[in-house]
Amino acid sequence: MIARVDAAEEPAVRARTGGYAVTLRGIRKQFGSAVAVEDLDLDVRPGEFLTLLGPSGCGKTTTLNMIAGFLTPNAGRILLDGQDVHRLPPDRRDTAMVFQQYALFPHLTVGQNVGYGLRMRKRPKAEVHVRVAGALDRVGLAGYEDRMPGQLSGGQQQRVALARAIVVQPKVLLFDEPLSNLDLKLREQLRLEIKHLQRELGTTSIFVTHDQTEALVMSDRIAVMRAGRVEQLDAPDTIYRHPVNAFVAGFIGQSNLIPGVCTEAGPDGCTVRLTTSDTLRARHAGAVTEGDAVQVLLRPEALRLGTEGAAAPIVGRVVEIVNEGSLATVVVEVSGAVRLRVSVPDPGALGLPAPGDDIAVSVPPGAAHALPADR
Ligand SMILES: Nc1ncnc2c1ncn2[C@@H]1O[C@H](COP(=O)(O)OP(=O)(O)O)[C@@H](O)[C@H]1O
Ligand SMILES: [Mg+2]
Repeated sequence: MIARVDAAEEPAVRARTGGYAVTLRGIRKQFGSAVAVEDLDLDVRPGEFLTLLGPSGCGKTTTLNMIAGFLTPNAGRILLDGQDVHRLPPDRRDTAMVFQQYALFPHLTVGQNVGYGLRMRKRPKAEVHVRVAGALDRVGLAGYEDRMPGQLSGGQQQRVALARAIVVQPKVLLFDEPLSNLDLKLREQLRLEIKHLQRELGTTSIFVTHDQTEALVMSDRIAVMRAGRVEQLDAPDTIYRHPVNAFVAGFIGQSNLIPGVCTEAGPDGCTVRLTTSDTLRARHAGAVTEGDAVQVLLRPEALRLGTEGAAAPIVGRVVEIVNEGSLATVVVEVSGAVRLRVSVPDPGALGLPAPGDDIAVSVPPGAAHALPADR
């Protein structure tokens, strides 16, 4: 059963929900016996750009559709600006969605597409005209009113969809993988354009993607999802530097994850014996105790080739080198099993080893993180 909130209760709810623009509490959604979203809590701050990031099928679209009102949760509550929206249909929720497939009306002009929501809201013709022109200007399509969607490129169509969403001045903008159909260069450009536009407008935004770079570049905070749940909700930098588990670490950025066992744990760190028989000191977030199976996260850019005065470097053999010019990745095989990726910035100046070379990899203090082994 879904908890209801009466109008008289609203101020109290607003206080409880801490002034968040969007609050999800204990949301569950099943399709038949399959659970798509499970016990999901989320608080989105006003004006924030929050990204739901996770692999295909983890429940991102389902979550967005429940916020928009296209789907009804089986349990839990959704509040927009502190107001329970359970009884509100999508068109009364003050949200606007941008879809992966643009979803423009092909038989309407660009202007008619963008003005659709305003006409539904019975705004005067003159006002619609001015606001449509303003929205098209904001997305870089000033003067495109009379074109047909079919005459536009994919990127331009997505800009029209963006204009159609912002023109109604929604409280919350919802984006479902809007850049996934575009090629890389355009995607990179539109990432920044959407981000800048969102900052200018200050509209609370929830952005769905499976692309970690997109999430890192665009977001104020990222909710990393897996199997219908949020694994971690934090600022991009925190997610990158302090992932709470191996799943998050593996999903964000390049990572070496090496299994091991914690042999001693204190408040400032722990000692881990890796499966390669190497032993190292690692930081941990308090979730690791002696005897635990762990995964040690070593980011490629935190490792150094050579001994660099390290007490116990990890010794291995170079098996592959990927040189991209400004950055190279040296792949080192350790104990014939584990492969370590080591980033070498400016390889032209520093020089690179060759495949087959025996080499030492040093782990600077603070570079290793012990994470609870994946469930
Ligand atoms: N209408 C539906 N009927 C049945 N199963 C669905 C439906 N929509 C989504 N699912 C299932 O729910 C899970 C989450 O889907 P979805 O929210 O689309 O994931 P994502 O957007 O993260 O890729 C998936 O296992 C998917 O197959
Ligand atoms: Mg999806």
